Amino acid sequence: MKFFLDTANLDELKKGANWGIVDGVTTNPTLIAREGRPLEEQIRRICEIVDGDISAEVLATDTEGMLREGRALAQLHPNIVVKCPLTRDGIRATKTFAQEGIRVNVTLCFTAAQALLAAKAGAYIISPFVGRLDDIGSNGMDLIRDIALIYRNYGFKTQILAASIRHPIHVVEAARAGAHIGTLPFKVLDQLFNHPLTDKGLEQFLKDYAKVFQETSVG
Ligand code: E4P
Repeated sequence: MKFFLDTANLDELKKGANWGIVDGVTTNPTLIAREGRPLEEQIRRICEIVDGDISAEVLATDTEGMLREGRALAQLHPNIVVKCPLTRDGIRATKTFAQEGIRVNVTLCFTAAQALLAAKAGAYIISPFVGRLDDIGSNGMDLIRDIALIYRNYGFKTQILAASIRHPIHVVEAARAGAHIGTLPFKVLDQLFNHPLTDKGLEQFLKDYAKVFQETSVG
């Protein structure tokens, strides 16, 4: 499973990249706006920090506008994946981008039928929003399972990216359901490391060694 960071915050991206387990980044207009710099400028900075797929979302809602913005975003860096919303115009733009060799992450997916549309248009990634479905009383993880089954049935190459992840259990369940990618807020990536028995065990190991050798470092 690939881990993407779901943030446009440069400090979070630097910390995550430093751990050596971040494969890419997803952004959306909300995350970009939070950092206070215009889209293209912030995306350029992100590309300097993380070497992997970087999703940058178009702001236009019509196909022509999406194509114009998406082509400009794709020029910024070879790692850019253009993000388009799952609308009629977005699917039309996805089809054209796919024919031009521009990779698209189709976002705001809430049903398996929508995921089928994205795959048929040639999307590189589909982003089902797990947490936002849970929020309205649906089971977000069921959607990941359904899409994985359907894509397998037809051999679609579109990668399933579990988005809107809220906690570590979402990450594990998405992995069990067969998501190719999980995009995690920095806080959730950080939480994946934690277990009290890891801390307790390490403390005990070091104490036991120090009792005999009066030192804790090797070499
Ligand atoms: C990622 O591509 C999505 O935009 C993001 O995961 C949405 O997450 P949220 O539901 O926490 O805003």
